[in-house]
Amino acid sequence: MQSGLALGIETSCDETAAAVIRNGREIVSNVVLSQIDIHQKYGGVVPEIASRHHIEAIFPVINEALEKAEVTLDDLDVIAVAYGPGLVGSLLVGVAAAKALAFAKQIPLVGVNHIEGHIYANFLDGQQVEPPLVCLTVSGGHTDLLLIPRLGEYEILGRTRDDAAGEAFDKVARVLGLPYPGGPQIEKLAKTGNREAISFPRGLLEKDNFDFSFSGLKTAALNYLNGAKQKGEEVHLPDFAASFQWAIIDVLTDKLITAAQEHKVRQVVLSGGVAANDTFRAHVAEKVREVGMELLYPPRHLCTDNAAMIGSAGYFRYLAGRRSDYALNAVANLRLGD
Ligand code: KG4
Ligand code: ZN
Repeated sequence: MQSGLALGIETSCDETAAAVIRNGREIVSNVVLSQIDIHQKYGGVVPEIASRHHIEAIFPVINEALEKAEVTLDDLDVIAVAYGPGLVGSLLVGVAAAKALAFAKQIPLVGVNHIEGHIYANFLDGQQVEPPLVCLTVSGGHTDLLLIPRLGEYEILGRTRDDAAGEAFDKVARVLGLPYPGGPQIEKLAKTGNREAISFPRGLLEKDNFDFSFSGLKTAALNYLNGAKQKGEEVHLPDFAASFQWAIIDVLTDKLITAAQEHKVRQVVLSGGVAANDTFRAHVAEKVREVGMELLYPPRHLCTDNAAMIGSAGYFRYLAGRRSDYALNAVANLRLGD
């Protein structure tokens, strides 16, 4: 008999994570072991160190997820694992662990695209995701604007040509001497700042262009800091953070709403680590209300990397008859729809 239970495994960057999900929508257990403390002293993720920590942590984390869910491997219908995009050495740890368990216990195996996982985080708190919809996935590695005409089908409307939005947050925060990851730090600083204090560029805002570019903004922000340093002027950090944050929020929101209107969708969906930003969520919510659409976004803790979202996406792939074989490999630059 089918239990509806999926084990999700996620190791694409610096979180070792495992989760047990029921029917693709209900979190039974969700374990995330973050390596943030380890990488903080380097100012960002060091790939080899990340892989080494994944290899130590992966089975304890999987065991903890099973124990917390009070299930064993024999209860599972499917094992779902993120196989890309991400750091190849990190991904390989999750993929190898998933294949070993699937082979030993003869459990169906499903490889999941990490970005697709971020989108499925929206299924996990009772929200009704109903395509056609437009989705913006904004994280440390990706800024993808997608049209989803039907579940599992993705049309890429635009993506970043250079830095991802989260990467821009992280790089500027690093120059300010703030700990990694920089997004939440800048958000905190920006709370008391004036967003109009500094005029930063908004990249590629022309009509009919759904691509993003954040390198110009990043350079402008770094030049501003260097200029102040050379002149011996003190930078008002909350104003700087608010002005920088809003340059990102404005571009993301503008393109998201324009795309949603152009494709006449009813739902607008956010996903990925940057979607944890409250100021961004509130601004998009206001704009989505103005155009009479519905906005979905995951709870904050499911915006950043976790395995619950991989379990959910994997379960729906499993229901659709998708399976991976034991040749499943990590694909660092995996694209949606591959
Ligand atoms: O989805 P995620 O955990 O990992 C990737 O797949 O990349 O996203 C992490 C990214 C980091 O760049 C981090 O700075 C950013 O999401 N982030 C935020 C916030 N929380 C996380 N950016 C802005 N505001 C936040 N509150
Ligand atoms: Zn991610």
